[in-house]
Amino acid sequence: MACVTNVIEILCLFILFVVVASRPDTGKNFDVRTYGAKGDGITDSANAFMKAWKDACAQSGSSRIYIPRETFYMSDVSFKGPCKGKIVFFLSGTLLSPVNANKFKQEAWIDFQYVDNLVISGGGTIDGQGSHSWSSNMNDCGAGAMNRRRTPNMKFHSVTNSSLIGLKSLNSKSEHLSIYRVDHFNITGVNITAPGNSPNTDGIKIGHSKNMKIWDSHIGTGDDCIAILSGNSNFDIHNITCGPGHGISVGSLGRNKEEKNVEGFRVRDTVFTGTSDGIRLKTWESSVSEITVSQLLYENIQMVDVKYPINIEQNYCPCPPCPKLGDSHVQIRNVTLKNIWGTSRNKVAVKMHCSKTFPCKDIQLIDINITHNGPGGPATALCENVRGSARGKMVPPSCFK
Ligand SMILES: *[C@@H]1O[C@H](CO)[C@@H](O)[C@H](O)[C@H]1NC(C)=O
Ligand SMILES: *[C@@H]1O[C@H](CO)[C@@H](O)[C@H](O)[C@H]1NC(C)=O
Ligand SMILES: *[C@@H]1O[C@H](CO)[C@@H](O)[C@H](O)[C@H]1NC(C)=O
Ligand SMILES: *[C@@H]1O[C@H](CO)[C@@H](O)[C@H](O)[C@H]1NC(C)=O
Ligand SMILES: *[C@@H]1O[C@H](CO)[C@@H](O)[C@H](O)[C@H]1NC(C)=O
Ligand SMILES: *[C@@H]1O[C@H](CO)[C@@H](O)[C@H](O)[C@H]1NC(C)=O
Repeated sequence: MACVTNVIEILCLFILFVVVASRPDTGKNFDVRTYGAKGDGITDSANAFMKAWKDACAQSGSSRIYIPRETFYMSDVSFKGPCKGKIVFFLSGTLLSPVNANKFKQEAWIDFQYVDNLVISGGGTIDGQGSHSWSSNMNDCGAGAMNRRRTPNMKFHSVTNSSLIGLKSLNSKSEHLSIYRVDHFNITGVNITAPGNSPNTDGIKIGHSKNMKIWDSHIGTGDDCIAILSGNSNFDIHNITCGPGHGISVGSLGRNKEEKNVEGFRVRDTVFTGTSDGIRLKTWESSVSEITVSQLLYENIQMVDVKYPINIEQNYCPCPPCPKLGDSHVQIRNVTLKNIWGTSRNKVAVKMHCSKTFPCKDIQLIDINITHNGPGGPATALCENVRGSARGKMVPPSCFK
């Protein structure tokens, strides 16, 4: 700029100041490449990522970890807070996991802990390269099943006021997203994919969390699309396409003593395609914990060729025989199922098999139309130890007394 006199010089400086100050504040940028990460798909960039995180986390104000549109091979990484400011983890490239997780120092491949104000965006991909692990997931009931290693693609533990936007998660070794003790957490526009026959690859598995939203996402896996475990409250799930997979499940619950209630969530505007289950509540047949599952609303849900569209099973026993300790002690109450339609592969399209000791209460069916698309006649409903009401169109006919 040509500034000759003092007055003009001051004016120029002022204009310069205005231009600089009015730039949007994208925060300080931390490009993983400046920490030595190599987007060649081969070099292990885990340390570079963790160094970038450390610096970003120590920065006050907002910072942005930038991962360009390249492929980074990375062993397990731990991103720990608390951090000084807000962090945007901007992943536009692909992260590639080692095929073998035996050397991992932690449970999950990518682990976020104790972070407030985290945003993960950028439209990138995390690839768990899990296909080699799946064969050892196969035998869920055999001897080693309990101490089998589970390695989620990504885990969030005590992460608050945060969001995960537009991520693609592929072929996790076990569940894709493991979510534990989060509060105020939004997940939108994610695409989670693993083959329908890959065991234990749940899409999103959540425990002890509250105030979550899961929106506008596609989940197709070999296990539950979303699994809601003990201690969760205030969830809003909508516009999800699920399939293949085992549907959106509450449970399994009741097996362990320290479990907490599950209450207050909505599942709306969701399509299940070719899944084994759609809406599923499962509690162990012989359960030790006395907890309540209540205030659930399922609304505007389409079933396309689903094996068990509505399935409440309080006699869950995946590895029989189960010890006969009595009926499930989980109380299910106040569940509304409204405007659910489509097709069932099984003749029993609506199955409510509740606990003898704690019968399901206040189950409301409103406008159900699920037809059986196989041989053996029209769809039926099964009621066991359940009290509730039905109104509007009702296919199959209600089994409430
Ligand atoms: C989650 O989404 C809701 C609704 O759009 C918004 O009000 C809230 O601020 C979001 N929370 C976070 C942590 O981004
Ligand atoms: C999350 O945000 C709310 C309001 O913005 C704030 O009160 C709360 O302290 C935050 N949570 C944590 C754990 O910092
Ligand atoms: C999700 O990702 C898979 C695998 O890349 C792709 O085939 C599919 O079209 C995507 N689905 C949506 C709804 O984006
Ligand atoms: C529902 O989610 C899909 C992504 O799975 C998105 O393309 C679509 O726009 C969303 N629909 C609405 C009504 O928001
Ligand atoms: C039943 O649950 C709904 C939310 O699904 C809630 O609005 C309502 O207050 C609950 N009713 C009772 C009696 O708890
Ligand atoms: C139920 O859906 C079927 C197939 O879409 C349709 O033909 C039938 O009229 C519907 N029944 C009611 C009672 O709405």
